Amino acid sequence: MPTFATFQRLKDKGIAAYRNGDPISARPYLIQAAECMLDIAASNNNPAEREQQEHYAAELIDLAKRCERAGKQSGGVKTRDRVGSDDDNGPDASDWIVREKPTIHFDDIAGLDDVKEEIFLKMIYPFNHPELAGRYGIDVGGGLLMYGPPGTGKTMIAKAVACELDATMFVISPAQIMSKWVGEAEQNIKKLFDAAKQEAKAVIFMDEVEALVPARRDSQSNVMQRVVPQILQEIEGFDRKADRALLFLGATNEPWALDPAMTRPGRLDEKTHVPLPDPEARFKLFEIYLGKRPMDPDVDFARLVEETAGYSGADIKAVAHRAATRPFLESVSGGAPRNISLADVLTAIVETPPSVSPSQAERYTAWARGG
Ligand SMILES: Nc1ncnc2c1ncn2[C@@H]1O[C@H](COP(=O)(O)OP(=O)(O)OP(=O)(O)O)[C@@H](O)[C@H]1O
Ligand SMILES: [Mg+2]
Repeated sequence: MPTFATFQRLKDKGIAAYRNGDPISARPYLIQAAECMLDIAASNNNPAEREQQEHYAAELIDLAKRCERAGKQSGGVKTRDRVGSDDDNGPDASDWIVREKPTIHFDDIAGLDDVKEEIFLKMIYPFNHPELAGRYGIDVGGGLLMYGPPGTGKTMIAKAVACELDATMFVISPAQIMSKWVGEAEQNIKKLFDAAKQEAKAVIFMDEVEALVPARRDSQSNVMQRVVPQILQEIEGFDRKADRALLFLGATNEPWALDPAMTRPGRLDEKTHVPLPDPEARFKLFEIYLGKRPMDPDVDFARLVEETAGYSGADIKAVAHRAATRPFLESVSGGAPRNISLADVLTAIVETPPSVSPSQAERYTAWARGG
């Protein structure tokens, strides 16, 4: 059964992306949230409540449609080309498949040295040194599942892998697959993998894997019951020894909710914990997100690091933005432009509580030890 917590999370992500001016990312979340709400409504015995929930779902779908139009108008499709532009299979067939050429490098990602090393070993070196990989019998390609709290850089890593390899990134959106507004899900999966196989180097990134392959089969819609085996089959069909790379990366905030079938050998068989940033990584995060802004010389990054234990990368980015907002607003309303002060940043830290609670973070750490 879909839960309100799942609904809430999807809706929040959709609305946040929408408000961030990113309708392309917002749309799948909104559709999935609507889908989730419809499922909740379907099992609600109270007719009045049910009607309200259906109405709410319809509103989210409306917003998703607006996002689609906004995405097209803003030229979003230019940076994220659609697959199968011949479009023989109707407009829906290519709708949820996006391909990107990301420009994020590993150096842009603070901390996570273990994770980076693992990825270099598994994904980057074998591909960049195919002869050596062949000599030592190291497979090229394969699958890796990243799990950890929100905002720790999982999506960034997937993009960096594609960027470092100069590969094309294909993004599978479970929201779109599950949506009953997208017909022909199986055809779409096949199209996506076919398109990826035609590329010399491709990274297939599947976000929110747990939504696609939840452990409880009975919670899956009919579409999922047909589509998941097909995805697993496609992953296993990866030609691992070929001189072209086809990598499969998954990300999840709920590794414990994942069907174990997904992490069997030949699938997402490597799992890696993407934790909250340690002090060194937080230092780097402040350098990245404050370093290029005008700062008072007395801003002591070590102090900021101390004050932000438990903050995610995304939280620190938000702190930096909030800290810059104060002097910016002052200068907009006529004040003399001034640097960002230590007080600005400390206030921003207080006003931006960490998005991940210590007990949530601990749950990942415990899962990493045990699973
Ligand atoms: N380690 C990091 N280094 C630099 N920036 C980071 C890092 N972690 C997070 N960020 C910032 O936070 C934003 C969110 O990160 P990202 O989308 O990669 O998180 P995520 O782990 O995929 O989160 P979710 O689980 O919610 O999908 C990024 O755009 C980036 O600006
Ligand atoms: Mg992500």
